Amino acid sequence: MTDTLTPVLTATWGDERAWTLAAYEKRGGYSALTKALAMAPDDIISAVKDSGLRGRGGAGFPTGMKWGFIPQDNPKPKYLVVNADESEPGTCKDIPLMMAAPHTLVEGVIISSFAIRANKAFIYIRGEVLHVIRRVQAAVREAYAAGHLGENIHGSGYDLDVVVHAGAGAYICGEETALLEGLEGRRGQPRLRPPFPAVAGLYASPTVINNVESIASVPGIVLHGPEWFSSMGTERSKGHGIFSLSGHVTNPGQFEAPLGITLRELVDLAGGIRDGHELKFWTPGGSSTPLLTDEHWDMPLDFEAVGAAGSMLGTRAIQIFDDTTCVVRAVLRWTEFYKHESCGKCTPCREGTWWLVQTLARLERGEGTPEDLDTLLDQCDNILGRSFCALGDGATSPITSSIQYFRDEFLAHLEQGGCPFDPAASTLFATSTTGGATA
Ligand SMILES: Cc1cc2nc3c(=O)[nH]c(=O)nc-3n(C[C@H](O)[C@H](O)[C@H](O)COP(=O)(O)O)c2cc1C
Ligand code: SF4
Repeated sequence: MTDTLTPVLTATWGDERAWTLAAYEKRGGYSALTKALAMAPDDIISAVKDSGLRGRGGAGFPTGMKWGFIPQDNPKPKYLVVNADESEPGTCKDIPLMMAAPHTLVEGVIISSFAIRANKAFIYIRGEVLHVIRRVQAAVREAYAAGHLGENIHGSGYDLDVVVHAGAGAYICGEETALLEGLEGRRGQPRLRPPFPAVAGLYASPTVINNVESIASVPGIVLHGPEWFSSMGTERSKGHGIFSLSGHVTNPGQFEAPLGITLRELVDLAGGIRDGHELKFWTPGGSSTPLLTDEHWDMPLDFEAVGAAGSMLGTRAIQIFDDTTCVVRAVLRWTEFYKHESCGKCTPCREGTWWLVQTLARLERGEGTPEDLDTLLDQCDNILGRSFCALGDGATSPITSSIQYFRDEFLAHLEQGGCPFDPAASTLFATSTTGGATA
């Protein structure tokens, strides 16, 4: 593990008009594609396997292994689908990547599609981010005009068409099978698995679905080799990753570093916790990853260590909360989000997230009883592992972890008959005119 930044995907973000084809090619852009087209597709899959790249969308599934599941003897068309839905609270890496370096993604799409023998790829972008959709569309247009896309790419005989698709704006459409439903024009709700998308995905054909950052990491692996990539990171969590620091740090932003860097190193790079305050709690990978505390300053941020601490590396969306933040209020806000975004397909999540909000809101107002904490944990127990998809599981993470670390703070609300914190002291919450909290 090294403790320095490793700008690879972010290296060009500060360049003049970094998003244009001219700027990208000036930095050697599309030379990985030239190299890839001279390789056998299976050798590209092997290189991605050997690199140790694990999915950057949250679950950390090995990317090369996923590609290897595509049955090449299946006569149906193969598809690559890029998951650019990015809606998890705190997660904010794919959108800046697509804004600043859309050609890194487009080059990754072409190489990845070539490797799995797909002639059609889709980039599914969250509908609310119109500026990002336009930017990626423009990059795709430029790539067509330059002969990087379309028929007989670089004279190789390989054809690829790319469709940039705007989603309608729902967190559940980031779940890969709900995303496929949405792409096919139906309501975005998860599908029963098996069959897995690799066997029967988009239009019941073999489909690879990968996160933006996973696919954007592929050109570097092809160009510099799998050993270059695996020389970064820890034993089982290889390579570079974008860590997004938000909340109560002096300089929030994107920090691309080897997996295994610690929170302490990242917060130092971000100028420390805001002046005069201390770290209280943080999420390692978005709101659906269990909270951690100041016990975890020096834990390596890789899949294994974060898992061993009872949380998940997730999307490396590190949201920092200092001592002015009421954990009950923060968790209530996330829970309201999950209730709103529950797609309604299964009862534990549809009904359970509603009940979580009722119980938590009562506690936050200081109107509940200590038994409500047990009720809350019981409600979580009835959702976790019993929901149809991981949205339900994720909804329970902030609640169970906050009770684990901050039970006394929940009880303090009851003792004081309300929130003991001054909302004006925290920059994260403002009180709306209707009395609710607004971001
Ligand atoms: C509710 C929910 C939302 C998700 N949102 C996203 C998302 O916005 N982007 C993403 O890449 N993966 C998201 N995922 C994970 C995907 O289902 C899938 O694991 C991922 O796209 C696979 O890509 P990877 O292997 O490259 O990480 C979400 C999962 C769930 C359950
Ligand atoms: S867990 Fe929630 S989001 Fe997932 S299928 Fe059930 S209701 Fe829908």
